Amino acid sequence: MTFVRVCGADELEEDTPKRVELDGTPLSLVRTEGEVFAIHDICSHANVSLAEGEVDDCHIECWLHGSRFDLRSGKPDSLPATRPVPVYPVKIEGGSVFVDVRASLTQES
Ligand code: FES
Repeated sequence: MTFVRVCGADELEEDTPKRVELDGTPLSLVRTEGEVFAIHDICSHANVSLAEGEVDDCHIECWLHGSRFDLRSGKPDSLPATRPVPVYPVKIEGGSVFVDVRASLTQES
């Protein structure tokens, strides 16, 4: 695994996605329910930033058509999106957030 520092842990506000870019990959970082998640920032339905959506119940909602993606698996739980968005491993160390964008946790089904 290749974890890379993306920001300070104290830069993330609860339930407020933060858009960052790592190795050319746009990410939404989300602190919610005591954990930090990293999900690819582009909706699988159209070219829309998920970081502008709302977070609730460990899901991030696409603001354009309302599909909700599980932050743990990247899978949508509602239409119109049908394909998952990649999610990536996160670790917090020394007050910093690290993400490994080479190791997607998402499984296409
Ligand atoms: S662009 Fe995200 S659900 Fe349509």
